This record gives sequence, structure tokens and C-alpha cells, in this order.
Amino acid sequence: MTASKTLRYSQIILLATILSLIITNCRAEEKNVNPGINNYYYDAKFEKWLETFESPGREVYDKKEAILHEVQIKPGMRIADIGAGTGLYSIAFAQQTGEKGLVYAVDISHNFVKNIELRAKNQGLKNIKGIINNQKEIGLAQNSIDLAFICDTYHHFEYPLTTLQSVYQALSSGGKLIIIDFKRDPHISTSWVMGHVRANKEKVIKEVESIGFKLTDDKNILERNFFLSFIK
Ligand SMILES: C[S@@+](CC[C@H](N)C(=O)[O-])C[C@H]1O[C@@H](n2cnc3c(N)ncnc32)[C@H](O)[C@@H]1O
Repeated sequence: MTASKTLRYSQIILLATILSLIITNCRAEEKNVNPGINNYYYDAKFEKWLETFESPGREVYDKKEAILHEVQIKPGMRIADIGAGTGLYSIAFAQQTGEKGLVYAVDISHNFVKNIELRAKNQGLKNIKGIINNQKEIGLAQNSIDLAFICDTYHHFEYPLTTLQSVYQALSSGGKLIIIDFKRDPHISTSWVMGHVRANKEKVIKEVESIGFKLTDDKNILERNFFLSFIK
């Protein structure tokens, strides 16, 4: 290699390093888009929230069977239920993926996670592992899951892009991400949804795809929520 080629090569390497440092820095500096939205979950009373999350009138509770049908859990799958709450879906996933599978019940709330573990134990389910995460990471190792499921939780993410990055890393190649969340549309949404939910479906898709996921399905099976599938 000539001296000028070596110089150009080192300049390219230097430029790439600077660019990657800028990108990393931008991600690290993501602003909190929802300060305080999760305050009431940190010392959540399990019984109170069990009644709220698992009672008729809540669409993701009423349509649980239809949702499970579309999620298509296979025996042996490794699944993360991110924002697991009281375990509405973690428990069902654990039953469907069987003893060779594994469900991570991920939540920022210690009380929720501990009570899901207790619920699993009482039902003889040995394939649920509770993870208490933080607002920036889901707390799972690289390539440790085949499916990430985020139900009624995306709008609670305080650092959505940073969190999504951590979901991306935890998924195996070809892994699936499902997001179910409130439709935010002034024509059909309540004023509570308009005030509480930050992003509409189009914005969610844009944010998720900016991380490197590809939208594969937008299922019209719910009235007040959307159901999106992405692939890594
Ligand atoms: C509205 S609840 C939904 C619970 C459950 N997915 C369901 O549909 O029944 C939102 C949950 O997300 C949790 N949460 C909020 N931000 C989170 C984050 N960054 N990572 C994991 N869980 C989070 C809250 O503690 C709460 O349990």
C-alpha cells in the first residue's frame, strides 16, 4: 500500500469512528419524553392493579384469546413480556410455550414482578423469570429472546428509542416484536387517551423502524388499540 493510500485509509477509519461516536452520543442523550408517567407504578399495590388490568371493559383483557391467537406462540419460544404488569400475558405465554420455553416478565415495578413470580409458582409454572428493569434497558442479554411483546406499555416508555435499542439487541436475528397500544385519533379516542398517550400509530412505526426493525403486519383485530408486528 502506498503512503497516500494508507493516509486515506486512516482518514476513513477516523471519520467512521467520529460518526459512530456522534450516533452513540445522540442515543445516550435521548430526552425523557414522559417524565413522571410511571410514578404510580413504582410502589404499585398488586391487588388494586389486578382489578384494573384484568377486568371486563379493558380491550386487551376482553380480547385476550384473539390477541394470543395472533401472537402465535410456539413451544420452546423465548419471550419477553415487556411492561408485564400483573402478568395477564406472561402467564398465558408461559402456558403456551411449555416447559422448554421461557418467559421473561419484565417490569420496572418490583411489586408487579415479585407477584407475577408468585402467581407462576402457585400455578406450577417453572418457565417464568421476573426481571426488574429500568427506564432505559430491558435488562436482557444479547440474542436471548425470539419474541418481544409490548402491550399497553409503549406509551409508558420514558426513553422509547433507547429502550427499543435494548429490545433490538436482546432479540435473536429474525426475532419478532409485537406492539399493542392505544389508537390515538381525535375522531375515536377519549380525551383521556389524547392526553395520556404520546404517539399515534404512524409515529410509533416511525420510531420503531428508525432502530432497524421492519414492519411486517398491522392487524386490524382491535377497536381501540392497534396491533403491530415487526421483524429484526
Ligand atoms: C398499562 S400497564 C400494562 C401492563 C400489561 N402489559 C397489560 O397489558 O396488562 C404498563 C406497565 O408498563 C410498566 N412499565 C412502564 N415503563 C416501563 C419500561 N420502560 N420497561 C418495562 N416496563 C415498564 C409499568 O410498570 C406497568 O406495569
